[in-house]
Amino acid sequence: MNPSLVWTSRARGPLHGAAVIPGDKSVSHRAIMLAAIAQGRSRITGFLEGEDTRATAAAFAQMGVWIETPSPSERIVHGVGLRGLRAPQASIDCGNAGTGMRLLAGLLAGQAFDSELRGDASLSRRPMRRVIEPLVSMGAEIESDEGALPPLRIRGGHSLAGISCTPAVASAQVKSAILLAALYAHGTTVVREVRPTRDYTERMLEAFGWPIEFGSGWARLAGGHALAATDVVVPADFSSAAFFLVAATITPGSSLLLRSVGINPRRTGLLEVLRLMGADITEINPVVRGGELLADLQVRHAALRGIDVPEALVPDMIDEFPALFVAASVAAGTTRIRGAAELRVKESDRLAMMARGLATLGIEVDESPDGATITPGTLGAGRVESAGDHRIAMAFAVAGLVSTGIVTINDCANVATSFPGFDVLANGCGFDIRVA
Ligand code: S3P
Repeated sequence: MNPSLVWTSRARGPLHGAAVIPGDKSVSHRAIMLAAIAQGRSRITGFLEGEDTRATAAAFAQMGVWIETPSPSERIVHGVGLRGLRAPQASIDCGNAGTGMRLLAGLLAGQAFDSELRGDASLSRRPMRRVIEPLVSMGAEIESDEGALPPLRIRGGHSLAGISCTPAVASAQVKSAILLAALYAHGTTVVREVRPTRDYTERMLEAFGWPIEFGSGWARLAGGHALAATDVVVPADFSSAAFFLVAATITPGSSLLLRSVGINPRRTGLLEVLRLMGADITEINPVVRGGELLADLQVRHAALRGIDVPEALVPDMIDEFPALFVAASVAAGTTRIRGAAELRVKESDRLAMMARGLATLGIEVDESPDGATITPGTLGAGRVESAGDHRIAMAFAVAGLVSTGIVTINDCANVATSFPGFDVLANGCGFDIRVA
């Protein structure tokens, strides 16, 4: 990573045209994982060529899985079966990816061999107790650094037993870690959620032929089956599209078409919130492809009003708050966010980073432990920190579109973890992002 990558973003005019957003990060991680431990050859199309998802593919290559890249965004995975992974010869580097590390912890907990998962500076600060505790209660042995922080050292050779649990945090990563460990466990595992979260692991297990029952906020499966290779079509990532939805909404005169975006309802909380604020976004040509609902999203400029963000929508838009902060900064009236304490343990403390950066640009933000109140105003010039957090960097690039001056954003290299080529695609639609 290049920590010195600095971007500037400034107003240029309306956004227009059509954009193809890269593949979904959550789906890409899971597709590699399940294909790797399935029997047979799976083809993944629309794979996200981001650093996070490539790190997951590299992890399985390290464990003896042959993964071909016939063309960019395509992978052929030669699955080795549930018990076919080989012991990695070195520690597995998950990079910046919380999803990679937490899901791998579950998948590796029931292997016959030892493994170690490590990450970059940001990932090394992220809480792992939430996966360690349920996995240990299934019989896994996992050591971590002080405070349940990475690296995770997973001792193999333990036999796991199914559990019934309700994790304290609403987290698809925690749910998925438990479900992946449950593939290797004796008996049945049931996960109930305090609020429903994205269900890609459940849907994909079903697509790979594993018997599973699930509904909104719960999932149940038993060990002792096999995964059969299948082809996966990865939709465009709604969380990446979110920056363009907000950008076109707040930039006068804009009209932008985003093609084939995944609109799984567990991901589209921002769509609902932007509509409550007055946004003009239309779903065109909805189709189900690879078991996932996709649509083209047509977004036109609209005047926004501030709202109290419904708490029930928080998990469905957990990655979209940096973009929402920018929309709220230029809405008419105050926006209040509550019940979003999880934002403090993402790639950065997103409540703090957005509050600090917006304050630098002249917007008043009152932080609370689990949210913020944003009083809109005029976005001005300034230099803000992204803290190496991809979504903070992209959110401030969007802020630049409606700033009266130049927004300078420090530490932007990690945008490549989820959205390689964001600046080029954005500039093609009417942004003015430059490397400083
Ligand atoms: C993800 C779940 C969310 C989200 C992350 C991806 C996943 O994390 O923030 O970017 O793929 O399961 P939590 O499950 O920790 O909320």
